[in-house]
Amino acid sequence: MRPAERAAELRRAIAHHRRLYYELDAPEIPDADFDALIDALGAIEAAHPELVTPDSPTQQVGSAPSAAFAPAAHRVPMMSLDKVVSFEELVAWGSRTKRLLGLEEEAAAGLRFVCEPKIDGLSISITYDRGRYARAATRGDGRVGEDVTENVRTIEAVPLELAVDPAELPADLEVRGEVYLPIAAFEELNARQQAAGEKLFANPRNAAAGSLRQRDPKVTAGRALSVFAYQVVSADLAPAGPEAAASGEEAVELETAATLGRQSDSLELLGRIGFPVNPEIEVVTGLEAVYDFCQRLEARRHALGYEIDGAVVKIDDVSLQRRLGATSHAPRWEVAYKFPPEERSTLLEAIMVSIGRTGRATPFAKLRPVRVGGSTVSLASLHNEDQVALKDVRPGDTVVVRKAGDVIPEVVGPVLSERPPGLEPWAFPACCPVCHQPLVRLEGEADTYCVNADCPGQQRQRIAHFASRGAMDIEGLGEQRVHQLIEAGLVSDATDLYRLEVAQLASLEGFAELSARNLVAAIDASRDRPLPNLLVALGIRHVGATVAHALARAFGALDRIMAASREELEATEGIGSIIAASIAAHFGADHNRAFVDRLRQAGVSFGGAAVPPAAPQNLLGKSIVVTGTLEAFSREGAEAAITSRGGKSPGSVSPRTTAVVAGSSPGAAKLTKAEQLGIPILDEAGFRQLLESGELPAAG
Ligand code: IVH
Repeated sequence: MRPAERAAELRRAIAHHRRLYYELDAPEIPDADFDALIDALGAIEAAHPELVTPDSPTQQVGSAPSAAFAPAAHRVPMMSLDKVVSFEELVAWGSRTKRLLGLEEEAAAGLRFVCEPKIDGLSISITYDRGRYARAATRGDGRVGEDVTENVRTIEAVPLELAVDPAELPADLEVRGEVYLPIAAFEELNARQQAAGEKLFANPRNAAAGSLRQRDPKVTAGRALSVFAYQVVSADLAPAGPEAAASGEEAVELETAATLGRQSDSLELLGRIGFPVNPEIEVVTGLEAVYDFCQRLEARRHALGYEIDGAVVKIDDVSLQRRLGATSHAPRWEVAYKFPPEERSTLLEAIMVSIGRTGRATPFAKLRPVRVGGSTVSLASLHNEDQVALKDVRPGDTVVVRKAGDVIPEVVGPVLSERPPGLEPWAFPACCPVCHQPLVRLEGEADTYCVNADCPGQQRQRIAHFASRGAMDIEGLGEQRVHQLIEAGLVSDATDLYRLEVAQLASLEGFAELSARNLVAAIDASRDRPLPNLLVALGIRHVGATVAHALARAFGALDRIMAASREELEATEGIGSIIAASIAAHFGADHNRAFVDRLRQAGVSFGGAAVPPAAPQNLLGKSIVVTGTLEAFSREGAEAAITSRGGKSPGSVSPRTTAVVAGSSPGAAKLTKAEQLGIPILDEAGFRQLLESGELPAAG
């Protein structure tokens, strides 16, 4: 396609998405996809300057105000921000700034920056007349916004009378900031919308925009909107660069300018007159410190309670701001540092079904690989049949994929405008993709199962589970190898492993004499695994490491557990009625008892004498989360050390967590949450102390 055609195509697409985003508050594609369209157009225009038109979306801010509101002209235009996405780009912005200011190295190193979270809401301009709330306007196209005075009046965080003697303030003070909806309020609103059969909002930003831009301010009043103020407008701070001068902007003098020599002064004043000012804001010196702020903020982004999509970095000194001025669309003295996007769209290549060890058939999305949430995603679970139907995603759709923090990737939904004609809804396969026997979904159940106990797919998962680390821990026996052994007809259940001979293995592809010997030795060594590992290996529903330890402690040997009644099981500390029923049912089934017999014949130890001496039960009632890599413990080892002492070791931090143990490269989200909840964070030495004494080490 010729550049001119491609530019025209991009402009059409951008105009379409801009309308959905700004006018209808209902975007179809993630912000990052929209930014990518603008960037693509910008690249064409940079290579072919003759294609730049004055009305090109690259030259515009926002969208024309909607006719539903009275127009509100901005005294000083509301511009947009240039963005950077890496340390390198941040440094390049810094160097440009330094050069424009003619600063020497030393002076540049001492530059002070205000670092603010970039709130993902919508910008607002609020004007006061002698300290009294007078007018509020959205950004609109930057010159003329929408008059939303009555709507903003209902936002509790917006002061109607400024908490300062009006004599201290200019007659016409303008405050700018971001209106946003806290995440909890967003979730509550969507729950209400769903109950009322109304459309759901895609994210808190759209919900905030949709809530503010209501004809009836009473609706806005019911929406729990809030605001963070970040700017005091003075014409003194308005664009003063060459382009602005050429466009004929007039400088209106405001009295505040003299007393607000720094952005940090403005923030202080905003706080004093009664506006919420974001508590994360920091003033730092030098770009390294700016970058450090951005990284710390990103690590905390999911713990804030409202959405942010980056940081805004502002030169603190207003006289320097004025020397830098602005380009036609953005100030030169501030820049947005954007976090990697957490949502992107990509092609849904196929929906496939995987078979777990219990036979559960789980649909999953095979995606064209896409960078999202800081990693490349090509697979995402779709959970079950109803989830696929609810989202109505079809192979061939462009879908929105979300990967936020530690959370596993998720398919949010299709981009309907990009659905090719004739795509059929996806239907759950009637047969197991592995054994081709019919799949079964029982009435009232969400999950579908392959009920063929001999299904090789299930066998593979069961044997791989049996050999996994928390179970019999057979080194070198992963899913692929298990598959190979089943295909070669050497094993059909885990007990067959104990009959494998070196010669049989050595003849298989990918094996040599040595690797065959090693595997046989590893299988042999697994005969002596402690009882909790054996219990996990049996794959009893609801029996993971914690329950297995509780059983081993209480009963000491497998035969005693198998002989126990449901009541006896239920009387065990840490075992409830559902788990007790599941264990009793498992050992009640003939094929499971036969499996245990075969293990016994294979010489697997069943506890009794082989049970390791019980550890002191000094962590009873304590819940300890482990994150990152420890030196002397594997992850399983650390968890076993906790559970064998009666404690719990869940995978996420909650208000019930007693302590978090952080090794190297810990999960940022876990640490942030622990900090927020005031939960002690231990290093490895602290963890050892806790294991020994059962007490948290003294702080300090
Ligand atoms: S400063 C020139 N500070 O981000 C306009 N903006 O992408 C810059 N935003 O329109 C205003 N948090 O709606 C500024 N702490 C913050 C912000 C912030 C969010 C929004 C604002 C602006 C957009 C630019």
